[in-house]
Amino acid sequence: MNAGTRRTVLCRLDELQNPGSRGATLRQGDRLLEVFVVRQGQGVYAYVNSCPHTGSPLDWTEHEFLSLDRRYIQCAMHAALFRVADGKCVAGPCAGASLTPVPVEVEAGMVIVAPETPPVSIA
Ligand code: FES
Repeated sequence: MNAGTRRTVLCRLDELQNPGSRGATLRQGDRLLEVFVVRQGQGVYAYVNSCPHTGSPLDWTEHEFLSLDRRYIQCAMHAALFRVADGKCVAGPCAGASLTPVPVEVEAGMVIVAPETPPVSIA
């Protein structure tokens, strides 16, 4: 790591079951953005916690973003299902829409926002 490089840590990898999920808050300047991290197989993914259907948060209880079978991200409001690997909605009222990704990496056991990631917009 270069001196002066700031890493934004979302959580520790061992805080995530596999499959599992965890909410986190991302600071972008003066703005706080609610996001969540999902671990599935060898992959770790993160998205803005905002459903493309209404903008509502997706979690149905703290840190819980997955469907009962743990295969999909599931919105708590109207049960839309999203693929974990790319955030695309495959069933529900926003089918075809996608979650807003937050590029992440795993470094030294920590899930961090990938360097060079521009500010995330949920426009
Ligand atoms: S708010 Fe997510 S499916 Fe309606």
